[in-house]
Amino acid sequence: MTPASRAGPCDRAFRQLGDPRAHPNVRWVSALTGATEAEVRAALHDVENHLEILAEIRERHREGGRQSYAQIRAPFELYAMARLLRPSSIVETGVSSGVSSAHFLLALSDNRRGRLRSIDLPTLQKGAELSPSESPVSLPPGRPTGWAVPARLRKRWELNLGPSQELLPTVATASDPIGLFLHDSLHTPHHLTFELETIRPHLAPGAVVLADNTKWTGTAFDRFAASLGAPVLPRGRSDLVGLRVPTYDRPASGRGRGPRSRTTR
Ligand SMILES: C[S@@+](CC[C@H](N)C(=O)[O-])C[C@H]1O[C@@H](n2cnc3c(N)ncnc32)[C@H](O)[C@@H]1O
Repeated sequence: MTPASRAGPCDRAFRQLGDPRAHPNVRWVSALTGATEAEVRAALHDVENHLEILAEIRERHREGGRQSYAQIRAPFELYAMARLLRPSSIVETGVSSGVSSAHFLLALSDNRRGRLRSIDLPTLQKGAELSPSESPVSLPPGRPTGWAVPARLRKRWELNLGPSQELLPTVATASDPIGLFLHDSLHTPHHLTFELETIRPHLAPGAVVLADNTKWTGTAFDRFAASLGAPVLPRGRSDLVGLRVPTYDRPASGRGRGPRSRTTR
């Protein structure tokens, strides 16, 4: 199988990015959103309308001394999920240069609706060069959080700087019901549990909740999923996982019949 045919629906964007980890997982998006695989492919294909912006994001990373921009492994899937769910509100924790943010914002721009509220406590690079002991998510000198997000995408963005321990309760309350949430900040069991419990009352029915680097967060995500009665859906064999908040059948009596997973198409 050639790299091009592996890349499938957004082949040109995938090749332009040049990071094999970003090969989109159509089934994962389908399971999370309830869309058919054909619908997911169509949504992924739409990202190819933005090759110029994607090239700009990549160039900004190069200029900042970061060769690859796929800090989140699933930038194209984030775009597709936001296109398919058409949320009025997306919330994310953990921004760094803004790869996940930029892909959410691209989708909101295409949807012509919705807002992204992001929270980031910046990690600063210590010197002029990134040392081997430092994380590539550190901000290069002089560059602010979200430094790779092109100006023309920022209209639908609210960026909040500080610890999500302090900011998330307010951000979650101020938002419309959250249709899509991404945890990509401090990866500890305690912190992930805090974030998930904070957003729980603000999640829209059918919302998608994602968490990256769950190999560091113990059983926090699984326990949250179990409490909702939702299956945990990993992206392939990786520790980027998601779930879909169950929707409830509401018969005329108003009594629900319990959670109904929409992930098994
Ligand atoms: C893995 S990076 C985010 C990558 C980003 N989602 C992307 O796709 O490029 C994690 C970010 O979370 C920030 N962070 C760490 N602890 C945090 C906290 N307690 N609250 C908010 N952000 C935090 C880090 O400084 C860093 O900018």
